[in-house]
Amino acid sequence: MKPNMFLIGFMGTGKTTLGQMLADRTGMKFIDLDSQIEEQTGKKIEKIFEDEGEVWFRKKETEMLSEYITQSNQVFSTGGGIVLNPYNVELMKENGIVIALKAEVETLWERLKDSTNRPLLKNENPKEALRELYQQRMGLYDDAHISIQVDEYSPVELIQEIQAKISLFNSAHLW
Ligand code: S3P
Repeated sequence: MKPNMFLIGFMGTGKTTLGQMLADRTGMKFIDLDSQIEEQTGKKIEKIFEDEGEVWFRKKETEMLSEYITQSNQVFSTGGGIVLNPYNVELMKENGIVIALKAEVETLWERLKDSTNRPLLKNENPKEALRELYQQRMGLYDDAHISIQVDEYSPVELIQEIQAKISLFNSAHLW
């Protein structure tokens, strides 16, 4: 049985793109947790934040993770805030390989400055909001089996590095 793989990382690190590529390359099923939440609720993430609030969204995120994690052979792309709840991190670590995507805050700002669908950056000063969140959260992405610095690499280069690191990790661990 193949375990699951979980991509974690700050908004804009490329979790969805790389998760889809990894799933395609490995023949595993791709699960984008945010898309699943949108599908189940019939609402976009921004609308959920607006109507129900962040606390409600976080509960839904854990609920969805707990539901999908019962299956194996899946690549998960998670929302940037999944690591805020230590329970989610434990759940992922117990059920597969956790891969953290990391980037410098300047890289993230370049990627996110024109984004319209990130409720946590819908703010008078989105750059400052990004910096604050980055400072609060960066340490939380350290609790992963594998870490990849994404800044100046293309998705193809990154996916090769991720796959190489997964092979190394698997050769050192018996599942
Ligand atoms: C969030 C990141 C988003 C989404 C929601 C909250 C966060 O996902 O889950 O807006 O707290 O960092 P992405 O990381 O895919 O943007």
